[in-house]
Amino acid sequence: MANRGGFSSKLGFIMAAAGSAVGLGNIWGFPYEVGQGGGAAFVVVYLIFCFILCYPVMVTEIAIGRKTQKNAVGAFNDLGYKKWNIVGKMGILSGVLILSFYNVIAGWAFGYIFEMAAGNFGIAEQFGDYIVDIFTVGAYGLAFMATTAFVVSRGVSGGIEKAAKLLMPTLIIMILSLVIYSLTLENSFAGLQFYLVPDFSELTGSVIYNAMGQAFFSLSLGMGALITYGSYVGKNDNIISSAAFITLADVGIALIAGLMIFPLIGFMTDGTMTEVGRGPGLIFVTLPQIFGSIGGTLGAIVGTTFFVLLCFAALTSTVSLLEVPVAYVVDEMSIRRSRAVWLVATLIFITGIPSLVGNGYSEFFTNFIVYVGADKATDFLSFMNHLANDTLLPLGGCLIVFFAAHVWKKHNLDEELSNGAPGYKGSFVQKYLNFAISYLAPTVLGVLFVFTVLSTFFGIKII
Ligand code: PHE
Repeated sequence: MANRGGFSSKLGFIMAAAGSAVGLGNIWGFPYEVGQGGGAAFVVVYLIFCFILCYPVMVTEIAIGRKTQKNAVGAFNDLGYKKWNIVGKMGILSGVLILSFYNVIAGWAFGYIFEMAAGNFGIAEQFGDYIVDIFTVGAYGLAFMATTAFVVSRGVSGGIEKAAKLLMPTLIIMILSLVIYSLTLENSFAGLQFYLVPDFSELTGSVIYNAMGQAFFSLSLGMGALITYGSYVGKNDNIISSAAFITLADVGIALIAGLMIFPLIGFMTDGTMTEVGRGPGLIFVTLPQIFGSIGGTLGAIVGTTFFVLLCFAALTSTVSLLEVPVAYVVDEMSIRRSRAVWLVATLIFITGIPSLVGNGYSEFFTNFIVYVGADKATDFLSFMNHLANDTLLPLGGCLIVFFAAHVWKKHNLDEELSNGAPGYKGSFVQKYLNFAISYLAPTVLGVLFVFTVLSTFFGIKII
């Protein structure tokens, strides 16, 4: 077997996997979902998903990867269940689709660094025009994809791990500084209250589906990203504790991102919180307005810091999204890594063009599809988001745990998990994981998958 490379240490793996998890999902997605989906009630449901259902999926993915030392498709073949590699293929498809639109949003964020540095806060009101200017934002997207490809082409320890070790600590320092700053503003408390005091009357079926999709997306689960990263993990590393740390880091950064953003909104709305329902535009429209009201050099510094932070977070995630198809091509088609990287990155960039032009430039992709029972059309980027995040990822997660428990079998999974985790066998964690992986997660995820598809695409609301 060709030398596939690997992480240099357990810490290297944790940093890279946490880097994959922490991304636009935490800093862009989480706050806007909270704003849209009922504030703290959403946060509570989200936390339940992360710890009770997603953590077991994460452990399973890493174990499958490490056991087989293969990519998301090859792993199933290697275990002797070729038919099941369809789950891996679906994962690779999800990865390609997610990266195609994720990179568009990362490109917007990248361009905002220059706007903020130049003190152009008026961009907030012109966001619609900004994203219609597809040649400019397309160039930013191209630069972002090229940076991602460059990192991945340097290999696992020399590229992916190194970037994460540099970017993640910087990100944490930047985000904490911004939290401290935003808490000193007037009316920050109103923001905290909205964010942290749950009102469960806000809890609807769609809040639950969104929380599930968000949890999977944010933890990079359900598409084999962690099977792939797991394949580079050392045999003596502790998967149980690594996965716990990755989950905590991801949830922690999402929560901290909320602590940064909601006080800012409290400040801007004089405590009324009326602007919070703005959805995806939250960080591109509302935040620059806030930076503008801070004004001057300070506003530019805060704004620039924010978008640099966002791009760092996004980069360690795009790197992991690209690594999934790249590892597949390298392992299964014996193509050299550097070649595979540029080939796959180019294809994905092209796949992203409909998402790029579907925000007002192209009428066709802007009003791409009307879901059954919906009163207005959905644009291509949002459609990809619904398809990949809210449906394919939970479905992938459901099938992966079902496979591990009932096809590959629990005792084999347990065997792999106990490598590097001496106290695992017989522990409470083992009992819980067995229950969750065999019964709880497949059932809950399976049922919610069906409900989500019915509700999102067909307008049939069961809960
Ligand atoms: N977890 C990343 C984020 O929150 C996105 C991602 C999803 C990365 C799936 C890899 C796999 O932005």
